[in-house]
Amino acid sequence: MKAVIKLGGFAFSFEENHPLVEEYVKLFKELLGQYHFVVVTGGGPIARYYIKAAREMGVPESLCDHLGILTSRLNARLLVDGLGEYAFPEVPTTIDELKHYFASGKIVAMGGLTPGHSTNAVAAIAAETIQADLFINATDVDGVYTADPSKDPKAKKLDEVTIDRLAQILSKGEITAGAYDLMDPLALRIIARSEIPTIILNGRTPDNLLKALRNESTGTRVVHG
Ligand code: UTP
Repeated sequence: MKAVIKLGGFAFSFEENHPLVEEYVKLFKELLGQYHFVVVTGGGPIARYYIKAAREMGVPESLCDHLGILTSRLNARLLVDGLGEYAFPEVPTTIDELKHYFASGKIVAMGGLTPGHSTNAVAAIAAETIQADLFINATDVDGVYTADPSKDPKAKKLDEVTIDRLAQILSKGEITAGAYDLMDPLALRIIARSEIPTIILNGRTPDNLLKALRNESTGTRVVHG
């Protein structure tokens, strides 16, 4: 089974006592062999520090995005180093490189590619490129809600969502550096055009990832057609 796992920037928050990335390194080592997969790492708080500093100096938005890309690649590099021989030793910066590195059979970790979208779009592109059986978006929320749960107490978590409904729920999301939503418009379009089986789940509990891989219920499943 081929999979793409988007590991949100929350896993690289070093302000927390025990950065989750350590737990994920252990889990990914166990999974290799049963699954062949790519991990796309978010930029997280470090990306946002850089983007904020740059924006305050009047740096153009595309260059703020670029700082986000570089920090997401730094997080991918940390994963590569933590995984040692389980990972391909380079972080791909193009889909050509991704294809070549993935053919090694090792875990490939990568960050951003180009300005104007999020690492969720990169993960969708990676899933399309390797023809993944599953795209898991490990975020820091339980899944997709009918509305923003921090603003609407009546918001309900959905177990399944159609791609059109998801696009509608996320239509008010921001598209500025460091503030792309749960899924940005490019990610949604790629998932839709290739009908990529996708699950959005809470990655703060790494066990949820195992559940998704074993086809057990967790998070929100995106349905097509
Ligand atoms: P992320 O998409 O990871 O943002 O990349 P994030 O806010 O940390 O999201 P989560 O928590 O992982 O879900 C950080 C920033 O890098 C730029 C964007 O500005 C993004 O907000 N970026 C990333 C790009 O411009 N292009 C890319 O391909 C990837």
